[in-house]
Amino acid sequence: MEYSTDGWQEPTLAQNLARAGVSRKDFLKYCGGLAAIFAAGSTGLGGAPKANAAGAPGVITADLIADQLGSVKKPNVVWLQLQECTGCVESALRSGGTTVEEVVLNLLSVNYNEAIMAASGDGANKALEDTNAEPHILVVNGSIPTKDNGIYCVIGGHSAEQVLRDAAKNATAILAVGACAVWGSVQASNPNPTGAVGVDQIIKDKPVINVAGCPPIGEVITATIAYLLTHDAPPKVDGEGRPLFAYGQRIHDQCPRRAHFDAGQYVRTFDDKGAREAWCLYHMGCKGPSTFSPCPIVQWNMHTSWPIGAGHPCIGCTEKNFFDRFTPFYHELPNVPGLGVEATAAKVGLGVAGLAVAGVALHAGVTAIRQGVAKKQEDEMQLAAFGDEADAERTETLKSEASAEAAKTKAAIKAETAAKTGKAK
Ligand code: SF4
Ligand code: SF4
Ligand code: F3S
Repeated sequence: MEYSTDGWQEPTLAQNLARAGVSRKDFLKYCGGLAAIFAAGSTGLGGAPKANAAGAPGVITADLIADQLGSVKKPNVVWLQLQECTGCVESALRSGGTTVEEVVLNLLSVNYNEAIMAASGDGANKALEDTNAEPHILVVNGSIPTKDNGIYCVIGGHSAEQVLRDAAKNATAILAVGACAVWGSVQASNPNPTGAVGVDQIIKDKPVINVAGCPPIGEVITATIAYLLTHDAPPKVDGEGRPLFAYGQRIHDQCPRRAHFDAGQYVRTFDDKGAREAWCLYHMGCKGPSTFSPCPIVQWNMHTSWPIGAGHPCIGCTEKNFFDRFTPFYHELPNVPGLGVEATAAKVGLGVAGLAVAGVALHAGVTAIRQGVAKKQEDEMQLAAFGDEADAERTETLKSEASAEAAKTKAAIKAETAAKTGKAK
């Protein structure tokens, strides 16, 4: 459905949406999507939702989000584009067709954004100064170059660092959106010629919410903004400052190709049988085992597809320093536990050939044991990446613990084999 909006003309968001032609039903559908994103990592939610008319504290429903988001009164937003490629703002604004989400975004009153604002020159500078003087939400795309007095990114005669510091002063919430703003991204990768850093390396006196990805999923960007508008506290974040509701899960654990990883069924070249059958992309360099992101669940462009769904390995774009830690992109990650566990179990199964019924039961039992151990190893082991020398000692310790665990598993399998084959006889 086509909607139109002429910006903020009514007191509340709900009234502006109604004027733009968005029905309560469509708005509820959009809010249901937000509720689903929040619920995907509900253990990671921060403060309780604001007053719940339905009287169910802590329960986030589409109705509750619609009520709270609908009552929001013109939140002012400064949206900076620093050292970046505009991919992030494109991701937020063009998730696929005209959606309620876009209407909500348009109604955010983004008073300043270099990529989409009509004003230029002095008019643009004034819009920034005026909005900076009031409480506002600050969204940042792009890294901040710190070398050579920040000469590599200058806006209106001010360095990106100065522009950021000025905009952060009265900000009620700060979102670093995209790998560039989170940690510097490709500009910050070795040898980092501009001294690029992320927002939280400059702004230390306020929390910075890191919406990671290159770019992040549009729905995750708007969900994080909606979260701020509908809750009394920012979302809980992980060690990298990423909202847990979106980044609390590893791609490998949610991936629809995971069964093929466990079964030892891998794509070996991009046009082989495995590729056509949508088998696991681990050997094509997939970084899913070391990457936290909601990509398999939320997907891209209105749930159309996502990198692995389209047959390409994940390059780990939501992880810090992925250009240095995860390249070469098409090389397989070292030390990923649990590789092809069923393939190995199948070999054990062949050892008791002729005992078909017992073999099936044995296979399932062995697989369960091995998968349990692999999961435990994954949970305990640091996430794999190339060349993390500093952690080499820890890796060695974990590896020897893992092989002790493997020895125990072998003994358990032997005992189970003996028990099963005994019973079959
Ligand atoms: Fe572009 Fe990626 Fe940086 Fe976003 S994070 S601005 S998509 S390079
Ligand atoms: Fe999915 Fe990649 Fe894990 Fe394979 S290695 S299961 S393709 S995330
Ligand atoms: Fe990025 Fe991997 Fe998702 S490359 S878009 S985190 S599947």
